[in-house]
Amino acid sequence: DWQMDSFIDNTVNALREKIGDKKVVLGLSGGVDSSVAAALLSKAVGKQLTCVFVDQGLMRKNEGDFVEETFTKLFDMNFVRVNCGHEFISKLKGATDPEDKRKIIGTEFYKVFWDKIREEADGGFFAQGTIYPDCIESGKGNADKIKTHHNKVAMPEDIKFDDVVEPLCDLFKDEVRVVGEKLGIPKELVWRQPFPGPGLGVRIIGEITEEKIKILQDADAVFRDEIAKSGIAQDLSQFFCVLPDVRTVGVMGDHRTYDHLVAIRAVTTDDFMTADFARIPYDVLARVSNRIVNECEHINRVVYDITSKPPGTIEWE
Ligand code: XMP
Repeated sequence: DWQMDSFIDNTVNALREKIGDKKVVLGLSGGVDSSVAAALLSKAVGKQLTCVFVDQGLMRKNEGDFVEETFTKLFDMNFVRVNCGHEFISKLKGATDPEDKRKIIGTEFYKVFWDKIREEADGGFFAQGTIYPDCIESGKGNADKIKTHHNKVAMPEDIKFDDVVEPLCDLFKDEVRVVGEKLGIPKELVWRQPFPGPGLGVRIIGEITEEKIKILQDADAVFRDEIAKSGIAQDLSQFFCVLPDVRTVGVMGDHRTYDHLVAIRAVTTDDFMTADFARIPYDVLARVSNRIVNECEHINRVVYDITSKPPGTIEWE
């Protein structure tokens, strides 16, 4: 661990030297890597750092607020949040094909993100939370080779920065998490499970509406709460709810209901290329199901996805 302490000291000094009195802009996704990069840069240059956080309204329940609160309260920086959920929903209207939805979300994100970065760019530096495995793929510190996948998108040619800084370029994921904890980032962020770039957009089958987003967010929050309480979170690689475009008949008191079905998905995997469905104990599944149908509006049935990958993928779209 002392190695990570000296990593922090050395990196902070190197960042101060390189950045001098210029500004540095970082795209913050709320994921582990960009969060740790933000905390390091904040420690190094404080208010010279501006973090741009695009909230497309497709994050988990309260997640956007949590990210904002964490970085505005615990760290010294300028924090710019772009709330564009309504715009995203209107662009997505009528889209039901998974690839169409991904494309719309990706294109819109690209536009909103770089428009905001362009506003903030004033020479100075552009920072990325690229970690070692990504750096070797894309060419270390090479501004021309900003990755186009893994949620990092190529910079439009008209945006000019003096240089790119990638303070995590020598670290592996587990080292990034250690650095994050040492810098005081909350555990929920440091140990965050993978979350797809298109967010809940690929967990709502069929057309995406504000109502469906709310239904899914509520169910997913209950699921996560029960997994945390049961103490099995560390045994699961990824777990979440999916909202298929399906309604089924149910009964509540002496009323017939016709409402949404929600699916829960939980997998174990080493590399996310193959995965197995997690053997969650039946009593935990029972509590999840009970709470979701009782606490979440518009859900009257819960099913558990018991498909491995392959042939299933982890996400449903
Ligand atoms: P699949 O569903 O392909 O998912 O088995 C494998 C891992 O990748 C994540 N995933 C994505 N991540 N953009 C991302 O950044 C995407 O479009 C995307 N699709 C899937 C998924 O959550 C899982 O961890």
